[in-house]
Amino acid sequence: MSKVLVLNGPNLNMLGIREPGVYGTETLAYIESLVREKGEALGFEIDFFQSNHEGLMIDRIHCAFGIANGIVINPGAWTHYSYAMRDALSAVSLPIVEVHLSNIHKREAFRHVSVIAPIAVGQIAGFGAHSYLLGLDALAQHLQSK
Ligand code: DQA
Repeated sequence: MSKVLVLNGPNLNMLGIREPGVYGTETLAYIESLVREKGEALGFEIDFFQSNHEGLMIDRIHCAFGIANGIVINPGAWTHYSYAMRDALSAVSLPIVEVHLSNIHKREAFRHVSVIAPIAVGQIAGFGAHSYLLGLDALAQHLQSK
């Protein structure tokens, strides 16, 4: 069974409350339930984690080395500037799928840049909670093709 780490960066614990016009009304707990359901259908063992602390997230990524088969990550605002997170993701040499609820490319200019995208298999943005499920499908395809 493939082990998949699903990671969520800062402020994503506030989904449901936070800017519902941009991020929707679904909570992170609800997204987790969707991810677990989809993960089961794909034969993935899901480890779901959120943190507002960059160091904690980096530690969690390091722990995936030699254990997980892939990572689906919504890095939140870290997407746009965290070289430390990018280096941590590179360090573990795992396939990375970057996901976003909103379409970052049609928002403020600072959101158009992802420092994670160049080390990811690909990026999915703009489909709300469904972005996570598309991300799991994409990872499944990628793992199968190897
Ligand atoms: C986000 C987009 C980021 O720009 C923002 O900082 C977030 C959420 C998204 O899922 O759309 O926190 O990653």
